[in-house]
Amino acid sequence: MNDLQFKRHRRLRRTESMRSLVRETKLQKEDLIYPIFIVEGENVKNAVKSMPGVHQVSLDYLSDEMSELEQLGIRSVIVFGVPQEKDEVGSEAYHDAGIVQKAIRHIKEAHPSLTVVADTCLCQYTDHGHCGIVRDGDIANDESLELLTKTAVSQAEAGADIIAPSNMMDGFVAAIRKGLDEAGYSQIPVMSYAVKYASAFYGPFRDAAHSSPQFGDRRAYQMDPANRMEAIREAESDVEEGADFLIVKPALSYLDIMREVKDRFNLPLVAYNVSGEYSMIKAAAANGWVNEEEIVMEKLTSMKRAGADLIITYFAKDAANYLDQ
Ligand code: PBG
Repeated sequence: MNDLQFKRHRRLRRTESMRSLVRETKLQKEDLIYPIFIVEGENVKNAVKSMPGVHQVSLDYLSDEMSELEQLGIRSVIVFGVPQEKDEVGSEAYHDAGIVQKAIRHIKEAHPSLTVVADTCLCQYTDHGHCGIVRDGDIANDESLELLTKTAVSQAEAGADIIAPSNMMDGFVAAIRKGLDEAGYSQIPVMSYAVKYASAFYGPFRDAAHSSPQFGDRRAYQMDPANRMEAIREAESDVEEGADFLIVKPALSYLDIMREVKDRFNLPLVAYNVSGEYSMIKAAAANGWVNEEEIVMEKLTSMKRAGADLIITYFAKDAANYLDQ
């Protein structure tokens, strides 16, 4: 035994105080961005069936919701509007009195210190459910850019602190950056969904946001899950076009992509821990198959270890509670 040569890694794992001394990755409440779905009407708090714990709320519930977040120490939200009226060109997305514009005004008035991120896309607002304008069965890229730019500017006008385009049209960062600058919003950053895969993990979100495509799928604009180099090209062009943050989405099956984007680009990196990733854990936990708290903290920590600086997650409230214990 005495002449065996080996390293004693376990020295640093003996006690909790030793483990916390050498812990390399720490999750903080400041890292978390909580998604909210806002619907029209009054006194509405609809549970989203496929996402236990998540609700669609009307404007009058926003204040309660924001106070809860503030009490928990969560400082940022990302807002998704669920409009009543949809049309071919997604008019409600860039309407000054659209649901998301109203929600942003509401939040900023009552809770000015919360950071409000606006998701900039058309899919919740178009009757066909695609993220851009449809011409002859195809998504018309450049025409869509004009409407997305209008949407971003109207969100900034309403008081959004950050614009987060998620539509995956080519040139969306360049177009939106130019539109914001020309409208006098050069101080508003763009958090680009730079790398967004065509993913089955978005299923529950489409229930919550009523944004399923009515024909076809999103594979002509969202990325093929098999591709890595393409993710680098996407991130590279967004950096050149002026993005201030880069999002990789979904998170858990794409931790490799996150690490690579983090190593290559010097911008804050955001992980989007999407709806399907949330609901799968909730379902397993409800069945008693996994320990929810441990799984949630392990998964969120793994995103930070992979290089994420921030995490958009439906688990934000749960995680804030766990961090308080
Ligand atoms: C809008 C958008 C989607 C998500 C965020 N923004 C849906 C999609 O692309 O189909 C998904 C978020 C989630 O699953 O939690 N384009």
